[in-house]
Amino acid sequence: MALERTLSIIKPDAVAKNVIGEIESRFEKAGLRIVAMKMVQLSREKAEGFYAEHKERPFFKDLVDFMTSGPVVVQVLEGENAVKANRDLMGATNPKEAEAGTIRADFAESIDANAVHGSDSTTSAEREVSYFFSAEEICAR
Ligand code: TYD
Ligand code: MG
Repeated sequence: MALERTLSIIKPDAVAKNVIGEIESRFEKAGLRIVAMKMVQLSREKAEGFYAEHKERPFFKDLVDFMTSGPVVVQVLEGENAVKANRDLMGATNPKEAEAGTIRADFAESIDANAVHGSDSTTSAEREVSYFFSAEEICAR
């Protein structure tokens, strides 16, 4: 077991649905701790840089439009195997394929408006955490 940190984003659809608290509660019940958090309106530039790995994909422009369509909650979750633990809580990218009881199965509408982001590896997590937070903004236990 390894103590890890991962980047989580509650996307504009879930913020608009007023389910921030319900989603946070799932992280806490699973033993993940929120060690940094902020609500922000992403600029196009910030969203494009965050999703740079997808910039050649056909859905890139729609993804950036969506991620800039309203405020998001960006946070760092810490816990044992936090990267995978968060991905397990989130469920599959396409909510139609997401397991029952996962965040995406319960709160997402579609593959493009899918409620949450979570880093997919510890390498991505390091990049994504430092993309949004300085060391002083992360409150270690
Ligand atoms: P991806 O990193 O593949 O999924 P995940 O968020 O589960 O790590 O894709 C990033 C986001 O891009 C995804 O959450 C929603 C959007 N997306 C689409 O809109 N259409 C698609 O076909 C895919 C694969 C992703
Ligand atoms: Mg991804």
